[in-house]
Amino acid sequence: MTINLSYYHVASDVTENNPQIAVVIDVLRATTTISWALTNGADSVEVFADLDLLRKKADQWDSEKKLMLAERGGKKIKGFDLGNSPLSVTRDLVAGKRLFMSTTNGTKSLQKVQNSEYLFSMALTNRKAVADRIISLDKDDVLILGSGWEDSYSLEDSLAAGALAEYLIINSISKVNIVNDELNAALALWHYWKKDILKCLKTATHGKRLTSIGNYEDDFKCCSQLDCLNIVPTQVEKGVFRAF
Ligand code: MLT
Repeated sequence: MTINLSYYHVASDVTENNPQIAVVIDVLRATTTISWALTNGADSVEVFADLDLLRKKADQWDSEKKLMLAERGGKKIKGFDLGNSPLSVTRDLVAGKRLFMSTTNGTKSLQKVQNSEYLFSMALTNRKAVADRIISLDKDDVLILGSGWEDSYSLEDSLAAGALAEYLIINSISKVNIVNDELNAALALWHYWKKDILKCLKTATHGKRLTSIGNYEDDFKCCSQLDCLNIVPTQVEKGVFRAF
């Protein structure tokens, strides 16, 4: 058995929209936030590219049982409960609730591959958990999709794609076939930065953007932790993720 593993930097690069397994990455910070929200007991996270649609869906939900999260340009949007910091989704706030979430890039990528047979949300925090799930599913077609920034490349998502590929190469009994050069480059990036993930995140353009708008030191630390959460955010119906 062979796992054919490909990586695309941003949603618009993807032409195939129904792979067997898709893994979406937005290290800074949407998928890190999703991994922490579900770890802290959120019932589910529903993602939206469009804010009006989010508001419409959230309106139909019991106010006690929902939270609305939205970010644009790294900042929380007025009128929403939370922005997009993984530190904000504390157990006190999220336990038992449906989170309605929209971010600049991450939720767009999650929507792009929502027709996949299996869709997982991955950050560095839950890389091993997602990789072990992929290995156990034993499928031959795995697409990794980054989120980037407004349709262009991002360093930190490629770093995580490389981290996932390395884990699969080392731990899968199946042969891993690296399908495209985007993934060869991501693997090289991971080998270069894996001893200093925090520095890589701060070097990235979006890291610099966050630094320029506020103190995100704790977000960087949180987003740079590798394999600290044993959680696989899994799409259970279109746009809705639950912990498995
Ligand atoms: C995104 O979706 O682009 C990011 O998660 C932005 C952010 O850092 O909040």
